Amino acid sequence: MNWKILTSLTERLRYMLWYNIERPHHSLNKKSLMEYFCGITNSSKSELFQTGMTYTHHRKMNKFKVNLYRFLKRRRNMLPEAGILSINNNACKKNCDHAINATPLSKIPKFRLIGNKHSVLNYISEVIIKEKIDGKIFFDVFSGSCSVGRYFKQNYSIISNDILYFSYVLQRALIVLNSFPKFENVKIANLSANPGKRINQVLEFLNKSEEKCGFIYNHYTPASKNVDGIERKYFSEENGRKIDSIRTTIEALFNEKQINEDEYFYLIASLLLAVQKISNISGTYGAFNKTWDPRSKKPLTLKPIDIIPSNFMHKAFNSDVFNILDKVSCDIAYIDPPYNERQYIANYHILETIARYDNPKISGKTGIRNYSQQEKSVFCSKKTVSDAMLKLLNNLKAKYVILSYSSDGLISKDEIISLFEKAGLYGIKLYEFQYRRFKSNKNTHKNLVKEYIFIGRK
Ligand SMILES: C[S@@+](CC[C@H](N)C(=O)[O-])C[C@H]1O[C@@H](n2cnc3c(N)ncnc32)[C@H](O)[C@@H]1O
Repeated sequence: MNWKILTSLTERLRYMLWYNIERPHHSLNKKSLMEYFCGITNSSKSELFQTGMTYTHHRKMNKFKVNLYRFLKRRRNMLPEAGILSINNNACKKNCDHAINATPLSKIPKFRLIGNKHSVLNYISEVIIKEKIDGKIFFDVFSGSCSVGRYFKQNYSIISNDILYFSYVLQRALIVLNSFPKFENVKIANLSANPGKRINQVLEFLNKSEEKCGFIYNHYTPASKNVDGIERKYFSEENGRKIDSIRTTIEALFNEKQINEDEYFYLIASLLLAVQKISNISGTYGAFNKTWDPRSKKPLTLKPIDIIPSNFMHKAFNSDVFNILDKVSCDIAYIDPPYNERQYIANYHILETIARYDNPKISGKTGIRNYSQQEKSVFCSKKTVSDAMLKLLNNLKAKYVILSYSSDGLISKDEIISLFEKAGLYGIKLYEFQYRRFKSNKNTHKNLVKEYIFIGRK
């Protein structure tokens, strides 16, 4: 072997070792070492420059991959141990000097939303502790049901956002409010001097408001047969009338300035939470059940929402994430995007309509509201998701990025890691754990689905 080849080989080995040390997650997949090495030869130009290698070296590298593979195999025992980072709650709490003072899970509504992180909140906080991720401002980029923001609102100033308006309503009540709204100006007979009692009085007033046949009754209860010629069974007729009467009364109270904006959002959020409990659906509003679920026969009842006090101020946005990235700068950006092709606007169209109460044009068997291209998420399409993710990672102004994703999502875990790298994130780590089981429609045996948490530093 002449000296040129030797030099180049040494460089390549240096690169291999650097790669293994800096990016241990690459060894996490179950590919053989050979495949792993081939993967490296396809690394991007910029990565190679970081190692001091030239692009020509990179191209020549293919010739030597077998030699290097053998070499690496021999050296393997010397490399840092790579593996899936495990999550062990107790060990992690003992070893860390700062603990997360999270909101108790019982105070976080179990909202029926695809991808609600309610059941994995403790994993997210464990990762934050374990990775010693510090900071004061936490950006919940895709807030959805607000589980994450509500969970962490005692630890951070939360900035939350979602493209859907009903999520914004929830954010205002579940995250932004640090104290109970006072309801001082409501004109209800014998209004109590005690603010806590006043909330109950207002909810009672709404619960008893006279039923009314409005948009929800006309289009989403069996009465829709007379209006649209299609019988829709999302709500019982009685509950449909209640939703209409409560929603229109809240609007009237706001227009008459009897309630302020905080009180307005608090009441609509309470209505949305109550609606979820009596909806005749098996998961989303993409379809209604043919027969009546027992829960849909219960009368809709507004309940007070607990307020989680916090020393931090919080802010909510209702925007496509790409429209607010220049306005938000944070310590931790938590990204929990849609992971499959199910558009949220289509699957939660009725909640959006109740929140907006804007008499939209609707169509089809499910009475779906017409929605614009802007309301569709680029994260729900295989064609657009990778570019969107890269754009997001590139433009987030954050010290740390935490991304939740599912193993059955549109982007593979390897691709996510390479997107993190392309966006210049470093110290990338992957935590994975089994999240839930589901039965595939096509075969009867159970599939395991994993939940991933990726960490990167900017
Ligand atoms: C997986 S859910 C988030 C779940 C949330 N973390 C929770 O625990 O409930 C994804 C959310 O992203 C929102 N979303 C999708 N595309 C968006 C975009 N371009 N900008 C802002 N929000 C978007 C959806 O409306 C949906 O609520």
